[in-house]
Amino acid sequence: MKLNLQGKVALVTGGSRGIGAAICRNFAAEGVHVGFNYLSSPEAADELAAELQATGVKAVAVQADMGEEASILNLLERVSAELGPIDILVNNAAVCPGGPMESYSWDVWDRTLRVNVTGAFIACRELATSWRQRQAHGKIVNIVSLAAFLGSTSGHLPYDSSKGALVSMTRALARELAPEGINVNAVAPGMVKTEMVIKKLDANLAFYLSRIPLNRIAEPADIANIVTFLASDAASYITGATIDATGGMMMH
Ligand SMILES: NC(=O)c1ccc[n+]([C@@H]2O[C@H](COP(=O)([O-])OP(=O)(O)OC[C@H]3O[C@@H](n4cnc5c(N)ncnc54)[C@H](OP(=O)(O)O)[C@@H]3O)[C@@H](O)[C@H]2O)c1
Repeated sequence: MKLNLQGKVALVTGGSRGIGAAICRNFAAEGVHVGFNYLSSPEAADELAAELQATGVKAVAVQADMGEEASILNLLERVSAELGPIDILVNNAAVCPGGPMESYSWDVWDRTLRVNVTGAFIACRELATSWRQRQAHGKIVNIVSLAAFLGSTSGHLPYDSSKGALVSMTRALARELAPEGINVNAVAPGMVKTEMVIKKLDANLAFYLSRIPLNRIAEPADIANIVTFLASDAASYITGATIDATGGMMMH
């Protein structure tokens, strides 16, 4: 199957590590120029940008906080100034505080929703507006979670709520942007080997494996492969969907 992504420009939020970095690598392997942001790990971001550039594509890493509108606008401006107009947006950056319900202050709840939902919306709003003006058929892929549908067994209430909101935003935006041929989809991972969950996995691997019908923890590349497909014209008849990437935990 040909994905025809060569020469496109993608922005991956939270691309410096984990699933985001795997998405960046996949795009580069398809000849996509890649812009991505980091928040607090400039070394990892610089290393990844150099690795992507070595494959022959253009790549740029920009420090940005997805919880701050001005920072997001600067990210979009820097990436398009350096790589050209953005064709693909992957909203991947997220924060995941943990604890029981009563431990969450207004500020922690608010920050989680701002980074995971509001920041994603601002990036969608800006890019979809420019795609409308250019009559371009852009692609948006939002990274959500099994937790949006089932909650978490280990206590992440604001995160779970934010991912539910992102699923709803995916559908609402998909409906609004469908007449312009802009696709908006989501991918819902279950457990993926990244820093976000590595401590839980190390402490309780047998428990987590027992819940996964496919009996393995996902690699970041498992998720990146689905995102790459959704970002391509091969998936142009899919919009408003949330792809279940949970190894069978959800069977959605
Ligand atoms: N891992 C899993 O099992 C799992 C399961 C379901 C869903 N997901 C979803 O998959 C996505 C990626 O998760 P991951 O496990 O790869 O996460 P991760 O390893 O914790 O990486 C998070 C990325 O987001 C960036 N980031 C964090 N806060 C940010 C902010 N305020 N503004 C901008 N960037 C920020 C980080 O930048 P720095 O490196 O600079 O801090 C990093 O690049 C998330 O949406 C997550 O909810 C993950």
